[in-house]
Amino acid sequence: MADKIVILTGAGISAESGLGTFRDEGGLWAKHRIQDVATPEGFAHDPALVHGFYNARRAQAAEATPNPAHEALARLQRDWPGEVVIVTQNVDGLHEKAGAEVIHMHGALDSALCHACGHRWPAPPEMVVGEPCPACGAGAGRPDVVWFGEMPYHMDRIEEHLLTCDLFAAVGTSGKVYPAAGFVEEATFAGARTVELNLSDSDVSRIFQEHRVGPASRIVPEWVAALLRGIPSC
Ligand code: APR
Repeated sequence: MADKIVILTGAGISAESGLGTFRDEGGLWAKHRIQDVATPEGFAHDPALVHGFYNARRAQAAEATPNPAHEALARLQRDWPGEVVIVTQNVDGLHEKAGAEVIHMHGALDSALCHACGHRWPAPPEMVVGEPCPACGAGAGRPDVVWFGEMPYHMDRIEEHLLTCDLFAAVGTSGKVYPAAGFVEEATFAGARTVELNLSDSDVSRIFQEHRVGPASRIVPEWVAALLRGIPSC
């Protein structure tokens, strides 16, 4: 049976699509305070500020197009004879635009979530304070994005994939935010080979067995091409 591959992606894969990362120089967290715009407490305190932050990011993501790194991962998912599971921390939707199927552990900008009943629906371009829920009518709509202090989505499924994969790769993520930063240890524990693809070292680089260093738009297509060349029938 062909190897099962799990790939974790972070903001670095979308940087060359024009979407800023969080912690690189001039990143989002240099311009905004996390506690103001990315916590349940921040939303309770000033929902207009939070909606404004995500409305702007939603508009930017809607304009953005996938780069060769997103396209290469979609190609790998399509052409690899085994299973390729892509888990993303990104909320920008660029993997889907490239044709990939992904697990969104931090939610998605194009989705709205009702705080009152848990219903989800396609987010309008501009969410407003008191956003009405189409299911229960409560004015409790919020961006369907996982904030600090909240549990990431689909963790059971992700853990299962990590424990059964043969190869784990992390692309463009700083290794500063858990639980995603701990995936490499879980995959290592499961006996998987591990590779990090990043512009520079992450906080967990030393745990990976292999490193590919450079911009995602170059190193991800190169890595995917090498994997696909390794398929005996290719
Ligand atoms: N190619 C490859 N890697 C890149 C590129 C690029 N062109 N540009 C930046 N990087 C790398 C950086 O070296 C860094 O390791 O991407 C990483 C970006 O790190 P962060 O800004 O911390 O983004 P990420 O790891 O995705 O953040 C995790 O933190 O605030 C939360 O919820 C948010 O999902 C996010 C989570």
